[in-house]
Amino acid sequence: MPGAIYAEGLVKTFGDVRALDGVDLDVPEGTVLGLLGPNGAGKTTTVRVLTTLLRPDSGRAVVAGIDVLAHPHQVRRSIGLSGQFAAVDEYLTGRENLRMVGRLYQMSARDAKRRADELLERFNLADAADRIAKTYSGGMRRRLDLAAALVVSPPVMFMDEPTTGLDPRNRQALWEVIEELVSGGTTLLLTTQYLEEADRLAHDIAVVDHGKVIARGTSDQLKARIGGERIEVIVHDRDTIRTAEEILRGLGRGAVAVEEHTRKLTVPVVGGAKLLAEAIRELDGRGVEIDDVGLRRPTLDDVFISLTGHAAEEAAGGDENTEGTRETTGRKERVK
Ligand SMILES: Nc1ncnc2c1ncn2[C@@H]1O[C@H](COP(=O)(O)OP(=O)(O)OP(=O)(O)O)[C@@H](O)[C@H]1O
Ligand SMILES: [Mg+2]
Repeated sequence: MPGAIYAEGLVKTFGDVRALDGVDLDVPEGTVLGLLGPNGAGKTTTVRVLTTLLRPDSGRAVVAGIDVLAHPHQVRRSIGLSGQFAAVDEYLTGRENLRMVGRLYQMSARDAKRRADELLERFNLADAADRIAKTYSGGMRRRLDLAAALVVSPPVMFMDEPTTGLDPRNRQALWEVIEELVSGGTTLLLTTQYLEEADRLAHDIAVVDHGKVIARGTSDQLKARIGGERIEVIVHDRDTIRTAEEILRGLGRGAVAVEEHTRKLTVPVVGGAKLLAEAIRELDGRGVEIDDVGLRRPTLDDVFISLTGHAAEEAAGGDENTEGTRETTGRKERVK
């Protein structure tokens, strides 16, 4: 029995670009899937296919139990979508925009008003509610668009980078709204660039790159896969990098990444705080002066670089000492 969102072998090409290259997904009902990946990975294209806005070249998709290609109209009635770029009517006020959505979904005028007021409050838009959306800032539009997607609570929701461009307070507010929605039984597919966000909201994460799902699991599983916590050290003198590298290699579980120009060394570790103390002692004992040292959890960058760097490592033959350089190179290639 497929989940509330199911995709199998989705392929979509735009000229030479293979935007989707065989995407498989399965999201159990009432759970949140976080779709992570760099720019151009195929996240929006996946969302567009699943929400009936784009026909794939091949593959199959089922949303809320309905075949997306065979019955797009029916699918549309069961889903909500908040796109990457806000789709609000510029010439209506915030309040009018939300009421209009309610009316489109056949709410009574009274219910539509009540829901609009509630959401305006929720998304900190009450003060601006009666200004036309054209005068809103980017973050305000974003919030209005999200509020519009939440006027009705469909069983399956899609949100494409919902918190990009939101300030911390509003991001927090949105997370709370999403959590409420999901505890009410909604299934959600959310794309994001922030591991922190996926961490907090997603039951499962799928990492996409070049139109393919390259890794899947819970946030903890993905982090464990790349080595849990990291010790990060910035040494004072360039001349001591090699010594520091040797010490960290002895303590860590994996290659030491070295960034020569910033004099920064990073190594994955297991058993954080104790090892951190040990690292400081050893560095001190061997006369390595430290500018900065700390323990940190992996970021999306770490997960991503590590996951994609893997192929590069195999291709390059896997020399440990060039790991840092290669990781950096791999990343730069991805920045558009
Ligand atoms: N309508 C289109 N015409 C041509 N190429 C497209 C079109 N839509 C997407 N692409 C290409 O498909 C690839 C995947 O794009 P997509 O928008 O799905 O990426 P994304 O993961 O959402 O990226 P971002 O993080 O930047 O939003 C990119 O190379 C993009 O240029
Ligand atoms: Mg996108």
